[in-house]
Amino acid sequence: MVKFAILGSGKGSNCRAILRSISQGKLVAKAVVVISDVRDAAILEIAREFGVPHAWLDPGQFRTRLDPEAEAKLVTMLREADAQFVVLAGFMRVLKEPMLASFPRRIVNIHPSLLPKYPGLKAWEQALAAGDTVTGVTVHYVDALIDHGDIIAQREVLVRKCDTTKSLHERIQEAEHELYPEALAQVFRQNWCSEQ
Ligand code: GRF
Repeated sequence: MVKFAILGSGKGSNCRAILRSISQGKLVAKAVVVISDVRDAAILEIAREFGVPHAWLDPGQFRTRLDPEAEAKLVTMLREADAQFVVLAGFMRVLKEPMLASFPRRIVNIHPSLLPKYPGLKAWEQALAAGDTVTGVTVHYVDALIDHGDIIAQREVLVRKCDTTKSLHERIQEAEHELYPEALAQVFRQNWCSEQ
């Protein structure tokens, strides 16, 4: 069974969807640790609720990335937890080295747009402002660029004429909660089979 870690900075609704999918037997994998760069993030409480080990990582002095020491510590924590994959669920820092080299094609992210459209923050607001009639969500491998990397799965979300940023964001998150566990099941299945 694939062992994976979840990294997040916020409310953790995707983390909850993934852990629920495991407890329902739909996703066959083991979440070995949940790590957050935010000490009181709700995602850590969700890990506790599901009985998954969890930890706060002091991110250091930078705002959008981890200090080199913090990133090295993160690798150590993930190795100690025996994580083979790293699942980003609202982790608000850009991963650099040594993370990328330590987990090549083993870090996965979810983004609230149909990439390559609208990388960056609040992608659903960009879609609404552009007058798009269709937007969606993307699960992708993480590389050195922001919201970039090979696409694993996408799901469309229709934009309604009456949508506000709030209503559109809610439907995007519903799509994320369905797609992320399914996409992870696909990734883990492929890797588990190829490693046998
Ligand atoms: C999600 O919308 C995801 O697309 C983005 O960060 C958000 C995290 O939300 N990368 P949550 O913490 O899982 O609720």
